Amino acid sequence: MLSRRNFISAAATMAAALPLRTGPAFGAETSATRPLKDIAKEAGLLYGAAIDSRVLRQDPALAALVAREAGIVVAESETKRGTVQPSPSRYNFAPTDELLRVAGRNSQDMRGHTLIWHESVPPWLSQSLSEAPKESLITDYIKVVAGRYRGRFHSWDVVNEPVAPDDGAADGMRISSPWQKAFGENYIDLAFHSAREADPDAPLFLNELNLEPDVRWGEKRRKAFLNLLDRLIKRNVPINGIGIEAHIKPFRFAYTQDVFSSFLNELSSRGLKILITEFDVADIEGPADPAERDKLVAEAATSFLDVAFANQATLGCLTWGLSDKYSWLSRYKDYQWPDRQLSRGLPFDYKMDAKPLAAAIAQAYQKRTQPKG
Ligand code: XIL
Repeated sequence: MLSRRNFISAAATMAAALPLRTGPAFGAETSATRPLKDIAKEAGLLYGAAIDSRVLRQDPALAALVAREAGIVVAESETKRGTVQPSPSRYNFAPTDELLRVAGRNSQDMRGHTLIWHESVPPWLSQSLSEAPKESLITDYIKVVAGRYRGRFHSWDVVNEPVAPDDGAADGMRISSPWQKAFGENYIDLAFHSAREADPDAPLFLNELNLEPDVRWGEKRRKAFLNLLDRLIKRNVPINGIGIEAHIKPFRFAYTQDVFSSFLNELSSRGLKILITEFDVADIEGPADPAERDKLVAEAATSFLDVAFANQATLGCLTWGLSDKYSWLSRYKDYQWPDRQLSRGLPFDYKMDAKPLAAAIAQAYQKRTQPKG
């Protein structure tokens, strides 16, 4: 068991005793020499990353890194409704189509992210949902989008982030979401049934954030999420897997391997697959020295991924980007450094060089490749 306090003090002791290593070392084979996708594959798992069509076009070095390292990709933003349906009569599939072409060229799978999310609701839709909510605002959209890409995505995140106990509802549902407001939680049922109809063979995922912190509100989230799952399963909603976002915050919230492991067991015992969908390490509030911070970031990743990969229902991990140069952690106000230095939460630095985090990810896969005993 590695509590946050133990984690930090153990790391501090080690940091004091050992010379700091800044390269992708730690003694194991790393992605500096071998692609993470290959190391993952040997473990029977996936490794992939979120990408963006504009960034790939503008930065050949990043495009080459994505081609080399990722076995599966997902659009960071461009398959969300804000991009895909900017007005009721206008669909914009160009960026998703382009990413599918790139993925095809690289022999990569691609995920669909995401059909229904409270944070990507274009203004026209927000107005319709509050003034005249119709179920067709869910079902028609999913028919068109999931239907267009039928058979082409590895899996869909059908609904994103449905739970938010902080909103104050007794059942912990995100009552501030325009979807929940308009339809109650039936929006989730509608979305999954529509997706199943439009893309019959695609594994359908429910994606959620902040499921790992070992803090009181984290416990509430996990409970609310499991209760929601039980209701969905009871109503025969066609759900195949759970996306664990895993934007982990080791310097902000406690984390305990046992707690996270029990939660994953709760998911797998319900017959659901598990995928780590958006892994990165928010390094905000970590040590000022980048080398020291990289080391603690890598250790936090180990402590998280070891548990994730120990569960046999886990399919693998995607990081939310690949290089720190483009990480959303540097753009999002909650995780930004006050001096605007780049966050160091992804496996490769701004020069596309592997960091200790890449080595930690590689090692986590390798532990699964060679089971103990
Ligand atoms: C984020 C992207 O990284 C940003 O570029 C975009 O502006 C907003 O969305 N949870 C999710 C992701 O499910 O879709 C979010 O991605 C990050 C949090």
